[in-house]
Amino acid sequence: MARTEDTTKRQQYIRSLYCKEEAAFSDVFQTAGEKKGIQLSPEEGKLVSMILAIHKAKYVLEIGTLVGYSCCWIASVLPEDGKVITIEKSKENFEIAKKNFATTKFKDKIITINADGATYLKGLELDYQLDAVFIDAKKVDYPAYLNLSYTLLRKGGLIIADNTLLFGGVYDSQPGEMQEAMKKFNMEISDTEKYRSLIFPTNEGLTVAIKI
Ligand SMILES: C[S@@+](CC[C@H](N)C(=O)[O-])C[C@H]1O[C@@H](n2cnc3c(N)ncnc32)[C@H](O)[C@@H]1O
Repeated sequence: MARTEDTTKRQQYIRSLYCKEEAAFSDVFQTAGEKKGIQLSPEEGKLVSMILAIHKAKYVLEIGTLVGYSCCWIASVLPEDGKVITIEKSKENFEIAKKNFATTKFKDKIITINADGATYLKGLELDYQLDAVFIDAKKVDYPAYLNLSYTLLRKGGLIIADNTLLFGGVYDSQPGEMQEAMKKFNMEISDTEKYRSLIFPTNEGLTVAIKI
């Protein structure tokens, strides 16, 4: 959901009471310039951070850093020895994100990678299993992100993915590569043999799945 001029009273009310941590990240939010609207909203950032906090996540991977707003929410709830690896394809965004992270108190928990998400995941070997993966990058690659993350994720670990309703594109029979990819992603992550999952009905759809 984009933060737009017409932010509803409802959102303003929720934001004013429950997104106070956002004040610490609002400078980061602003550095996205014209791309501000594609970041998580403060409520969504808080929601993702709360899910990770409830889950007691220690090792998280994010695909799609932009300038680091969602990553700030993630890093803010990790324990002292927690880590978040965040992957961004654009060199320009990556450089801004790195500068942004350097100004935060959780900078030592963030590993910033400048790479194509799917390519990086294919070659990724970790000496720990991930507690959670947050997907918010190239829509046609969502099925690949899901499959590649699966092996890196511990049993009971979480997949969280933004934009999974694709503005109605997944149920309005809109043609297109992105729509087909997102339908495939949604179909695969709704497999009850592999996941306990749901699309949380935010404006754009936020999938949360637990690996069985
Ligand atoms: C919606 S934005 C991420 C917003 C960020 N998660 C937030 O809420 O603050 C999507 C990002 O994914 C990046 N991206 C697009 N294709 C990618 C790819 N193939 N691999 C990695 N990142 C990619 C874009 O450059 C963009 O910065």
